[in-house]
Amino acid sequence: MTTATLDEMRQQAMQQAQGAMSLALAFVGVHNGLFEALAEPATAEGLAARAGVDAGYVRRWCDAAYAFGYLDAEGEVFRLTALGGAYRPSAPGTLMPFAVQSVLGAHMAERAAGLMPSGERPGERVLGERATILPWFGPMLEASFAGFFEREILPAVDVFASLDAGGGVAVDLGCGNGWYLRALAGRFARVRGVGLDGFEENIRQATEAAGRAGLSSRLSFRAGDLHHYTVDEPVDLIAMNRALHHVWDRRDEVFAQLFAALRPGGAAVIWEPRWPDERAQLRDGRRRGMAFQNLSEHVQGNHFLRPDEIEAAMRGAGLAPRTWLFADGTEAVIVGTRPR
Ligand SMILES: C[S@@+](CC[C@H](N)C(=O)[O-])C[C@H]1O[C@@H](n2cnc3c(N)ncnc32)[C@H](O)[C@@H]1O
Repeated sequence: MTTATLDEMRQQAMQQAQGAMSLALAFVGVHNGLFEALAEPATAEGLAARAGVDAGYVRRWCDAAYAFGYLDAEGEVFRLTALGGAYRPSAPGTLMPFAVQSVLGAHMAERAAGLMPSGERPGERVLGERATILPWFGPMLEASFAGFFEREILPAVDVFASLDAGGGVAVDLGCGNGWYLRALAGRFARVRGVGLDGFEENIRQATEAAGRAGLSSRLSFRAGDLHHYTVDEPVDLIAMNRALHHVWDRRDEVFAQLFAALRPGGAAVIWEPRWPDERAQLRDGRRRGMAFQNLSEHVQGNHFLRPDEIEAAMRGAGLAPRTWLFADGTEAVIVGTRPR
């Protein structure tokens, strides 16, 4: 590998700085509904009126969005470019998650920088510290993972189809905005579901979205701590998507609770990013984001896991584990079945 000159490294840093700026700028537009409001071209004043926000801010945003290629301009009238259109949260395959992740990442980096001297780890609440970020947390995860779940995971992992055959009950612990149960209930007409999450905002969004999808009679959501979750009847499937690593410190308790809540033959379905066995794998472009996110996870009191650690915890609780790998081994689904 040849060593870059200082000038080359400066060029690279400048490009990276512009990349960070462009995503931060997109977040301002996403949060204030500017990309959506630009379905029809508008002046800055017209756009501000349409989106119900301040015209002074919008004028500055439009100039910057023009500079970064999100908008074209004809005189004072702005219209979305193809790139700007791709940031509409409603666009198929929206780029919105990159904008949200970038600003969430900056917030987490700032917190990690300040907390490193003391070692304090404030926990989940750090996610809720920015009023503009929290409402985008669920939609960001849905846009990033729902399509992947439906295309890759649902057809491959064999526990879902049997859930439908029996008109079973699925529980989603740490359910976010409820997209996973909506996907299951949308695919399988007899499945019922209950979701639980620690953030009221997620539960509000999950309940609303289930209503919009006509699924309120089969899906319900409530706010609460998954450590105190109880079921009224033995359940067929308990899902935890990107949630187990949030409660890993208390895994013995969590897995004992999963075992008790499942009917014999029922399954815990754990989906986690797969922390690699070797550090060198973190340099892979597909895993770099995970390495950065693991620092934010540390602020929240968490860290990412390897599938073999999850399998061992399942075995310890009497569940029989099987692992499926996806996305070149960067994502893992570990199914723990309670023996009949
Ligand atoms: C990374 S998010 C994943 C959300 C969702 N499962 C998804 O895939 O979109 C982790 C979720 O777990 C929830 N969570 C973490 N600890 C929890 C706890 N002790 N009780 C309830 N929810 C919890 C968080 O509120 C957050 O919504």
